[in-house]
Amino acid sequence: MNSFGGKWTEEKIEVFIKYIKAYMHILKKYPQWPLLYFDGFAGSGEIQTKDDDLDLMEGVAARVLSLEDPRAFDVFYFVEMDTAKATKLNTFIKDKFPAVKQKFVSAADCNEKLIGLANWLRRPENKHYRGVVFIDPFGMQVKWDSLRELQGLHIDLWILVPTGAAVNRLLKRKGLSPENWFSSLGDFFGVEPDQIKERFYKVNPQMNLFGQTEHLKIDKAAEEAAKLYKERLNTIFKFVSNPLEMRNSRNAIIFHFFMASNVQVAMKIANDIVKNQTA
Ligand SMILES: C[S@@+](CC[C@H](N)C(=O)[O-])C[C@H]1O[C@@H](n2cnc3c(N)ncnc32)[C@H](O)[C@@H]1O
Repeated sequence: MNSFGGKWTEEKIEVFIKYIKAYMHILKKYPQWPLLYFDGFAGSGEIQTKDDDLDLMEGVAARVLSLEDPRAFDVFYFVEMDTAKATKLNTFIKDKFPAVKQKFVSAADCNEKLIGLANWLRRPENKHYRGVVFIDPFGMQVKWDSLRELQGLHIDLWILVPTGAAVNRLLKRKGLSPENWFSSLGDFFGVEPDQIKERFYKVNPQMNLFGQTEHLKIDKAAEEAAKLYKERLNTIFKFVSNPLEMRNSRNAIIFHFFMASNVQVAMKIANDIVKNQTA
């Protein structure tokens, strides 16, 4: 079972489902293209809305599987690394959606399956597929090298980026973070660790007591992380949406939710949905 993240979980799901509906309106005009849905962090099928309660709400998997009008996906591929959750999801969707034929659940690491997906879509017999990839992790589990495999494919990607929940926490406020934290951040953004240092730190003009220069983290580091991630996504996809900014109850940024595509109209639709959500 996945625990509820609050209002932002609902907002994220709302934005994503609105996009899928708009996507289907366009894709119903192209029945020659089979449609694939890939969910890399699928969960167990249901989300627990309160810690001490049995109150459950449907996860994204069930909502996407329920969509039929104006068109449904032809193939569903769910990845969930936790074996117990993957088993639960498998039972859940088999019971709830017996009529959906092509649905697969894999208990594996999303990174490995993203590479598998890209290889599958590149096969000549699968080139006519179009698809949506949904990446919904809590932390920095998605490696840049796995995402890069999606370059040039006919897919739209929605990805939750833990700009505040993880990236910002690896950047110490005063003084530089340990080198291995910069390495992790470099792997996550697909840049050299030194580029992370340059981007997120400035040198304090005042020397410390021992005459050494000090590094200070820039203000609004989570926002800067979103800018950097957008730039990086733009090296894989032609178009990247403005992100949905997600804040916790203390108004601190926790995630940014992006859409990336090689189709301009897809980005425009995502931008409109994000704008209306925050209006
Ligand atoms: C935020 S939850 C997903 C919620 C889901 N989208 C829903 O609507 O119910 C993230 C899930 O990713 C799983 N996970 C963590 N690391 C993973 C990885 N490397 N590959 C695949 N799944 C992973 C966790 O077990 C967890 O269930």
